[in-house]
Amino acid sequence: MFEISSSPMKNKAVELMGLTKILQLPLWSLLGIGVVLYLGLVQILRFRSLRKLNKTYAAYLHDPYSLDYKTAHQIMRRVILYETPFMYAFGTQWALLKTYTVASGTTLLVQTGQLTSDSTVGKRAEDTGVILAEFLVGSVDSDRGSKALAKMNWLHRRYGSKIKQPELLHTLAMFVLEPIRWLNEREWRPLTEIEKVAIYVYWKEIGNRMGIKDIPDTLEELEVWAAKFEEKNVYFTKNNQMCAEATMGLFLRNVPLVLRGFAQHAAVSLFEEQSRLALGYENPPIWIAKLVASAFHIRKLIIRHLFLPRLHELDPLAKPDSSGRLYRNAWAFEPWYVKATVKSWLEGWFWTSGKVLPGPAYKSNGFLVEELGPVEYEKSSKEPVAKEAEEMQAYASKGGAVALGCPFYSVGYPPKYGA
Ligand SMILES: *[C@@H]1O[C@H](CO)[C@@H](O)[C@H](O)[C@H]1NC(C)=O
Repeated sequence: MFEISSSPMKNKAVELMGLTKILQLPLWSLLGIGVVLYLGLVQILRFRSLRKLNKTYAAYLHDPYSLDYKTAHQIMRRVILYETPFMYAFGTQWALLKTYTVASGTTLLVQTGQLTSDSTVGKRAEDTGVILAEFLVGSVDSDRGSKALAKMNWLHRRYGSKIKQPELLHTLAMFVLEPIRWLNEREWRPLTEIEKVAIYVYWKEIGNRMGIKDIPDTLEELEVWAAKFEEKNVYFTKNNQMCAEATMGLFLRNVPLVLRGFAQHAAVSLFEEQSRLALGYENPPIWIAKLVASAFHIRKLIIRHLFLPRLHELDPLAKPDSSGRLYRNAWAFEPWYVKATVKSWLEGWFWTSGKVLPGPAYKSNGFLVEELGPVEYEKSSKEPVAKEAEEMQAYASKGGAVALGCPFYSVGYPPKYGA
């Protein structure tokens, strides 16, 4: 029995040894050749997508600022969905945290209670992610994307002149600059000029449609503006700390208790000094900071030299069922709008030991874009959001900011915020 079943294997081995004899090579050097070929393949394929990007957008390379927002969006999507999805998402979370360094903004956030109450902090984070995905991954010009942006505007506008123009612009700057900083420092390759500018150009279009005035003309100017704003407006307050703590608590919720102190130090080590102080975090132990930096560095080397690129772009947008309601497949902290299936249940058990599971409490019946955001405004916002989305689409089809000047204002519902 044993003899028979093992003989084909034996034959293979004998054949292989015969081959190495013919080639006059020992087996280990064949393995060596295999490894070298694989590493060479990684080198060739790693940069294939970038070479293609350079070729496709060659006309813009000498002056990336000549990109229109639609072309910019194609380039940016490639970064978010194919080149560096994980780090872009991570950097965006940090952008959100860094908006809490602005003392005048966190006062309002604490008043609304959405952020600091344990029962709403998860929904707010997931809704923010869903809304951003609708117009960053989807498009500001699509029905879904323009509704998502209109809903965001509607929510901001509720707070009237309590939200100031410079605060809006600083938040926009964080969402542009922070992911770029993350990618440059920690990703397997830095972004090229055209990729960075594409991110800026697309976000600028979003800023226009949020009614943000005087957005600086280049990435460099935006960076200078943000640094100047931060000199005056970024300093420690109790409210900053409360906002940061609530969000950090959410990030670390599923980390085992014994590791939580370590994980918090590790997370804090990812801030620059100025932000860390403004959020009231103590300096993490130097060995933890070094460990985190090394881990990112090792990840960078492994991906750069050993990993083949991914095969497809990711597809994180929620998908409609036959009724038109949208359902998510993936979630970060709480399974909002995830259909309750055996698979999603098991995932919930796996990630949270059953603490949060898809179900009616997390709207397992899906969502419509205009419903996103605090539950209490679901009905009252529906009509104005639909109207503003239509106006926004009309604005875009007439040529948008280029033809009509910027920023965009919803005619029927002029933003009172941002005085
Ligand atoms: C793509 O173009 C940029 C200049 O914009 C250059 O720095 C980079 O090396 C090019 N990359 C490849 C792989 O062609």
